[in-house]
Amino acid sequence: MEKNQRITFLKDYLTSKINLFHFKKMETEILKINPRNPEKSKIRKAAEIIKKGDVVAFPTETVYGLGANALDKKAIKKIFIAKGRPQDNPLIVHIHSKKNVSKLVDEIPKNAKKLMKKFWPGPLTIILKKNKSIPKNATANLPTIAIRMPKNKIALELIKQSKVPLVAPSANISGKPSPTKSEHVIEDLNGKIGMIIEGGKTDIGLESTVIDLTQKIPEILRPGKITRKQIENVIGKINVNQKSSKCKSPGTKYKHYSPKAKVIITKDEKDVRNICKKNPNKKIKQLKYPNEKTMAKNLFDDFRKADKEGYDIILVKEIKNDGLGHAIMNRLKKACSK
Ligand code: TXA
Ligand code: MG
Repeated sequence: MEKNQRITFLKDYLTSKINLFHFKKMETEILKINPRNPEKSKIRKAAEIIKKGDVVAFPTETVYGLGANALDKKAIKKIFIAKGRPQDNPLIVHIHSKKNVSKLVDEIPKNAKKLMKKFWPGPLTIILKKNKSIPKNATANLPTIAIRMPKNKIALELIKQSKVPLVAPSANISGKPSPTKSEHVIEDLNGKIGMIIEGGKTDIGLESTVIDLTQKIPEILRPGKITRKQIENVIGKINVNQKSSKCKSPGTKYKHYSPKAKVIITKDEKDVRNICKKNPNKKIKQLKYPNEKTMAKNLFDDFRKADKEGYDIILVKEIKNDGLGHAIMNRLKKACSK
């Protein structure tokens, strides 16, 4: 086992022990819901669990989320424990109607209104100055709050029937690739949360674009499907945070999206041949995609599959660092930087 694999193993082991200490292993209900036409009675069952102060994993258009009542301090704490998430990493608050933003902030700036109108429901998270409605542990004591309205029928109906906003990070153990299928959530969180909704494969496959509107010039903290260009067409010039060391989005400083296998970004076939030659005894998987959309949708699933199949190295060809490619390269670089 290599050093970084040993560290990952140890981290997973400790996380699981901490979880056992906090939670007795619980029965996780797994509930299949039709993503095109969600059965209301099933959503009601999930909403009951949220109202009780427990945690429910549900699909969104980006990745699966791990949802809890955003007004309930204890329920929020359960999310951090189940994921093994550092407490200084704030959560996104999910709402089902644009009107509900006014309950979370004192003032909605013009730029926020424009972006909400253009991109919500959809994969854009907006950071604003928060009011006092949401407990401090949801936002890691920050004076700001990240808000998003997802474009997924199950997610929207669940938030609506829960009658409260839902905090929801990606429904994976911290540090693992985000879940794009319910199987991934089951792998990571079965026995640790109240319910896992099975609502099909997520459409986009990468987490939402996060934009901070509390700065003079708005700044993208995490690239996603909604691109810089699309945003600039609506609100004019913005910045893109390039260095994760700057750490404006606390979550970006942690190791993310990493399979156990070593991920290497390759430039060309010569690169691939060299790596294979240098590692004759390693099991090497090369990931190939016809286009960016398919790549975004399948990348995290393929990382998990490669781990299951026992690969040591995953090779992925570099793509153009632009548009959706920018978001993909961002996740790939993080997966490489162990
Ligand atoms: O697509 C998504 O956004 C998914 C689905 C489930 O909605 N959620 C998601 O949540 O990716 P999470 O917790 O895995 O990532 C949220 C990111 C983290 O990098 C966190 O640090 C950042 O958003 N964030 C949250 N609140 C913030 C705040 N107030 N200021 C700066 N960054 C914030
Ligand atoms: Mg995450």
